[in-house]
Amino acid sequence: MLNPRSLVEDRTYLRHFWHPVCTLAELEAAGPDGAGPIGAKLLGEPLVIVKLDGRMRAMRDRCAHRFAKLSGGKIVENRLQCPYHGWQYNADGRCGKIPAAPSDAIPRKAFVPSYECEVKYDIVWVRLDSSWDATTIPHCGAWDNDEYKKVIVAQPYNWASSAERRWENFTDFSHFAYVHPGTLYDPAYSEPAIVPMDRVDGELRFFMEPGKDMLDTLPPDSPLGSWTYRAAMPFTVNLDIRLYKNDQPFLLWTTSSPIDDENCRNFMIIAHTDPDMPDSTPLDFQKLVLAEDQPVIETQPGDLSLEEVSLPTDKVSNQYRKWLRELAMGAMEGREGFRKALLTNTYESV
Ligand code: FES
Ligand code: CO
Repeated sequence: MLNPRSLVEDRTYLRHFWHPVCTLAELEAAGPDGAGPIGAKLLGEPLVIVKLDGRMRAMRDRCAHRFAKLSGGKIVENRLQCPYHGWQYNADGRCGKIPAAPSDAIPRKAFVPSYECEVKYDIVWVRLDSSWDATTIPHCGAWDNDEYKKVIVAQPYNWASSAERRWENFTDFSHFAYVHPGTLYDPAYSEPAIVPMDRVDGELRFFMEPGKDMLDTLPPDSPLGSWTYRAAMPFTVNLDIRLYKNDQPFLLWTTSSPIDDENCRNFMIIAHTDPDMPDSTPLDFQKLVLAEDQPVIETQPGDLSLEEVSLPTDKVSNQYRKWLRELAMGAMEGREGFRKALLTNTYESV
């Protein structure tokens, strides 16, 4: 069996970050009162998301009784009821009612672990380990920004790829000419720029200006412009575009949520300034781009390997990998090591 040397052997440090698990629209469609429950999976952990007592909750999706999935249950008496024998769980994950033995004391171990859960950008976010409290939900420039007349929260899509690979794919300059000729790029521009990169407040920041001449050859929906990246570690990219065609801002925001080591669930927000443009226009264009990427990226192993051959033109992914490794190593030292790795700023740009 192939045994590549892993860049990061232990992915548990990812539990300290906030990750999206579903959109609000998905949760609202999942139950009769718009409160769920809905199942999700994050870093191998099955989760049930449900709104109880007016707040979003994330719990382990496994009933304490016989381990049935609570996401197949329903909300009864403001509790989450297991579909198998009807045990009912309170908002804090403690069992509050056992129909088979209503007059007995509820066993002390009759609870499911719960996790920190928030709604932001119409997306439900979960942090599996909040013990260090060292991370925040990533920035999205589409919110609280009057410049944008339309903000679209897309339907999430799953890839059989690790979240790390998906992140690298989104920010990889030298694949545009090969995977997206005529869509995002002109093959004549296969030599990418090597850009300065900063680490600022847990974000990798860089700027890239693709050739303006490509305007003549690319379709009008292609978001060609100057690209400003704010990439909150580990899996979010906020891409601010200033379109060449009309000098208007256009925002492409993506987060890859790690389902497990080999699968990710991707969330996308698109924001633009044209109130008359149907949502299908930018969404269909992104679908086209994703359909070009997906079959290639799904052939890569999930694991990033130290044996992969890197070039100076792979600078973005090289710097990303360096930081991932520092975060994983920092986490092994504990809270301070992790915070230092995440929050020490470094600047290459002036
Ligand atoms: Fe949930 Fe029995 S497995 S109540
Ligand atoms: Co691509």
